[in-house]
Amino acid sequence: PAVSPEVSSEFERWLDGEFVELNTQLEEAYFRAHVEIVRGDPDLDARREAILFDGAKFAAAVLDAGDLPTDPVARYQLLGSVGGYLASCRRHQIDKGHAEVLAPAWTLAWTLAAPLGVAPRYVFAHQCLYGHRLFTSLDDERIFVTYNALGVLAYRRAAHALRQIPPMGVAAPMAGYLLADARSALDDVLRFNTQLAAELDVDRFFYNVRPYFKSYRVGTAEYRGANAGDFAGINEIDLLLGLCRRDDPFYGRILTEKAPYVPPEDQEPLKAAGTGESILAQFQRAGRTDQVRENARIFLDVCRLHGAAYSFHHNRLVRPFLVEPAEHAPDAEDLTASGPPLPVVLEFLERLGDLRAARNRPGLATAHGDLARLRESLDAA
Ligand code: HEM
Repeated sequence: PAVSPEVSSEFERWLDGEFVELNTQLEEAYFRAHVEIVRGDPDLDARREAILFDGAKFAAAVLDAGDLPTDPVARYQLLGSVGGYLASCRRHQIDKGHAEVLAPAWTLAWTLAAPLGVAPRYVFAHQCLYGHRLFTSLDDERIFVTYNALGVLAYRRAAHALRQIPPMGVAAPMAGYLLADARSALDDVLRFNTQLAAELDVDRFFYNVRPYFKSYRVGTAEYRGANAGDFAGINEIDLLLGLCRRDDPFYGRILTEKAPYVPPEDQEPLKAAGTGESILAQFQRAGRTDQVRENARIFLDVCRLHGAAYSFHHNRLVRPFLVEPAEHAPDAEDLTASGPPLPVVLEFLERLGDLRAARNRPGLATAHGDLARLRESLDAA
């Protein structure tokens, strides 16, 4: 149990109250000026310092009180709290040159994260599965976080359904039910992405929401930023469908890199994903009964929707909300959550998109041919 509930609840109260007010006031000032950050305004400097010093004081009090929560859920939630504070310091660029002030928060983050085997920073799971705290009271942050979170839940639902198919076998009548469940979940992903694209304001996202998701430093190490992909679900879907392979060095690196950023309960599924036979491989060797044909048609729908949802992410979210505004914002730094320059991240996302949509790309091994042959085998009487 948490033995220091009072000190940590003071910290939580501050994070829910004054912290949100200060971030919101700063964001409104930056937004009026249409820049990533406004410097040299004493009033804004005072607000930034209030975040830096008050947060540091609360984090130090939690650390000094000792007896951190032993319950893994409470521990992970507290990591999200101290991580949210550090992400805000990074966003307002007050993290540089204050190593002494930040040291207790860094130590707290390290101490909480180490036994959980996760990166000592805030990730999207903290915001959507282990609470729903926001940095500001801006509508656009609420819209962004809500639809991202719904997308995450829908991907998890699809992964959960698909995971049950290989041991059962694709010829089972129940496999059709599970495939239909995955289809409906991926349809939800596409719908939530579409709603997000319609409701989110490009400039608000670019200036006031995105900067909280950047990489930041904890002690001497830099940890890359948060995004809605930091869950096992999306990768389990890729691998179970047979669209990606874990022995593909490009894809294998994604799995390894991602491990410390997924929530603790996703670590085992991420390790196990893709180690058994894929659903595609099962369909390739199954006899052509009516049931198999019916199930395979739903499987092909699932693959198509998975590709479509991810293409939407690329063309209707990443491009208009990140790539295009970045062209007009030369002062914005660290545009991507992961750290590498935007063109590098875009190339990586495009390659993932080609795999997920099973596109016919010269020089890239995708499931294009296998899916086409499966489709033909169903049409052959
Ligand atoms: C990854 C941008 C919304 C799911 C990424 C990346 C970017 C990005 C740039 C690459 C990681 C990096 O930053 O280096 C955006 C933008 C969004 C948005 C601009 C909205 C304005 C969403 C939503 C979902 C989502 C709603 C649904 C769950 C993912 C996934 C990945 C990812 C799954 C990881 C790729 C992978 O490893 O498989 N996103 N995203 N994103 N995003 Fe989004």
